[in-house]
Amino acid sequence: MEINGARVLVAGATGVLGGALTAELVDRGARPALAGRDRARLARAAEVCKDAPTVLFDAYAPESCARAVARAADALGGLDAVVTVFGTVAFGGATAVGDEVAEHVMAVNVLAPAAFFRAALATMEPGSMIVAFTGVVAERPQAGMADYSASKAALTAWLAAVRR
Ligand SMILES: NC(=O)c1ccc[n+]([C@@H]2O[C@H](COP(=O)([O-])OP(=O)(O)OC[C@H]3O[C@@H](n4cnc5c(N)ncnc54)[C@H](OP(=O)(O)O)[C@@H]3O)[C@@H](O)[C@H]2O)c1
Repeated sequence: MEINGARVLVAGATGVLGGALTAELVDRGARPALAGRDRARLARAAEVCKDAPTVLFDAYAPESCARAVARAADALGGLDAVVTVFGTVAFGGATAVGDEVAEHVMAVNVLAPAAFFRAALATMEPGSMIVAFTGVVAERPQAGMADYSASKAALTAWLAAVRR
């Protein structure tokens, strides 16, 4: 995909990697829209990238992910790529991480990116891209990170199946 001029939704633009990605996209002439859950952090992120449009979402609310895609497409006149670079992590042995935390990790790291991509795939033109930051734990699960590793592996499997 030609980056210069590309309309790219960055979901998780307030994070470390999301901020770095957005800055690189701007440097290369892309037109990003920034998505995040916190209005103030999102506004700060937008300042450093030529006042890009911003949209709110909460990864724990899948309908807000689909809405963010629609709003970003409205703001930029369409989307050429949707990137998810948000996520949450849980540390601890398998018995220490409770069911509620495990459910939260799966919702944020698997179901929310899938919700973004479902909405994107339903509306974007052929040749557009969906991109996710997963993690090395998807292929090399780490001790004390079973639920986090499983969530990244699940997203990787979801993307591989969709790609086929
Ligand atoms: N850093 C690494 O070395 C590394 C390596 C491999 C993979 N990754 C993956 O890359 C992604 C980003 O990592 P990072 O290091 O940039 O992390 P980070 O700085 O902690 O950023 C996390 C991002 O996720 C957002 N987020 C978390 N929960 C959310 C929710 N419920 N709704 C909406 N947004 C939510 C945060 O929003 P707020 O700003 O509002 O908190 C923030 O934008 C994660 O999925 C991580 O697992 C990171």
